[in-house]
Amino acid sequence: MKVSDRQRKMAPEPLLLITIDGPAGAGKTTVSKMLARELGYRYLDTGALYRAVAYEVRAADISPDDDPGLCDVCGTLQLSVEENRLVSNGVDITGRIRSPEITMLASAVSAHPMVRQALLDIQREIGRTRGLVAEGRDMGTVVFPEADLKFFLDATVRQRAFRRFEQYGKENNQSLEQIEQDIRSRDENDSSRDIAPLRPAGDAVIIDSTAIIARQVVALMMARVRKGRDAK
Ligand code: DC
Repeated sequence: MKVSDRQRKMAPEPLLLITIDGPAGAGKTTVSKMLARELGYRYLDTGALYRAVAYEVRAADISPDDDPGLCDVCGTLQLSVEENRLVSNGVDITGRIRSPEITMLASAVSAHPMVRQALLDIQREIGRTRGLVAEGRDMGTVVFPEADLKFFLDATVRQRAFRRFEQYGKENNQSLEQIEQDIRSRDENDSSRDIAPLRPAGDAVIIDSTAIIARQVVALMMARVRKGRDAK
């Protein structure tokens, strides 16, 4: 073994900030959790933060287009994410944010600049310490443009709808067709909004997960992580 190799072996691994963006149902959550576990990193699900805003909008019984109402919700929002539990205004809402209604509402509120701004600081604060896998739509483009490694995970609409159907279809009483319809409309909302639209960062590694399972996606990512660490 060369001296430099031995030294590298003994040096602590540099902690990275890794972003994973992509459309609904591409497998981001599964893969992000697996990657974070494998690396011993923290994991941040930013979709859950938009879902929390949607939950509060629903609880306040206002429309997602009611600007003064949204302003009140954002101004008083106290969010904390710990041990993968999401606490909003003192209430653990982890189990209440995956319904079809909150899902569509999250996409609607996320198009409002006020909401995105309110969540920006929270996300950046969490990302201040490295050793994080952050999942969302604009992680690599807007929230963490300086990330060490950026991935964009994609798959066909059919495949994404099928995965969501397997995951939540029964529990939410939704058919595959309904889910596919919701996904198409969310894709449209999330990619066509003026602010922070869903798109890959110029320096993102694009992975199509249509025909490969989560473990294979993580293996591809780990190969990039090793390269990224060596380059540091
Ligand atoms: O990832 P998810 O399905 O939980 O996200 C719910 C919605 O939140 C999604 O339709 C768009 C929005 N979102 C966003 O605009 N930006 C993010 N970084 C994460 C989610």
